[in-house]
Amino acid sequence: MGDRELLRQAKLSFGLLDFEDTVRSCRSYRRFKEDEPLGRGFLLALVDIARKVASAANRQPLRYAIVDDPAQCAELFGGLRWAGALTDWDGPEEGERPSAYLVIFSDGEPAKFTWTDCGIAAQTIALAATEAGAGACMMASFSPSVVFDVVGEGAAGMTPLLVLALGIPSETCVLEAAEPGEDLDYWRGPDGVHHVPKRTLASVLIQGKE
Ligand SMILES: Cc1cc2nc3c(=O)[nH]c(=O)nc-3n(C[C@H](O)[C@H](O)[C@H](O)COP(=O)(O)O)c2cc1C
Repeated sequence: MGDRELLRQAKLSFGLLDFEDTVRSCRSYRRFKEDEPLGRGFLLALVDIARKVASAANRQPLRYAIVDDPAQCAELFGGLRWAGALTDWDGPEEGERPSAYLVIFSDGEPAKFTWTDCGIAAQTIALAATEAGAGACMMASFSPSVVFDVVGEGAAGMTPLLVLALGIPSETCVLEAAEPGEDLDYWRGPDGVHHVPKRTLASVLIQGKE
């Protein structure tokens, strides 16, 4: 049996197909239905899920700010840099901007594994959002001073690590196979579909000893 068939059968027999679908749909969305709020309860639920994930030595250094007030969202939007690879696009227009944000902070200076913890939490939030029909974009290109202006005194002494833009996606994102040496930059087609190259299974597997 070839590897392709082996893979298909394993995903079927271990019940991984639905989870893989969720991961496939869990893309970085940058255009949303801005007029469809996610609701405070949903944002609280995302943080409540994130606080349960693994954390190095269980130190749990992460703190979360919910930004869902439209005026505050507009202010935070001004401190974000969107899609560096889409050089002729300045980010989402009014009406297609995120309807909410979660900002992940480190309580104090980040320690050795704080960024690892942040990635685990951010991906869990993104997966939870996807499962619920929403979408996210993790953003590390942000202005810390704008973040502090928006979040206020509650974040004093903390370090902002990542902004998660959230909303109901209004764009389609698809994965493409990237063979070794091929360009990994994402791109947008004339139909507006966003394409994301991902390395193939064979190219990410390290061959063991014979
Ligand atoms: C740590 C991290 C930081 C990122 N920062 C930004 C950002 O500042 N702006 C942005 O538009 N996208 C940002 N992204 C999204 C990436 O561009 C995106 O993950 C990548 O293009 C692959 O697309 P995918 O998430 O749909 O697989 C970030 C992603 C990660 C994981």
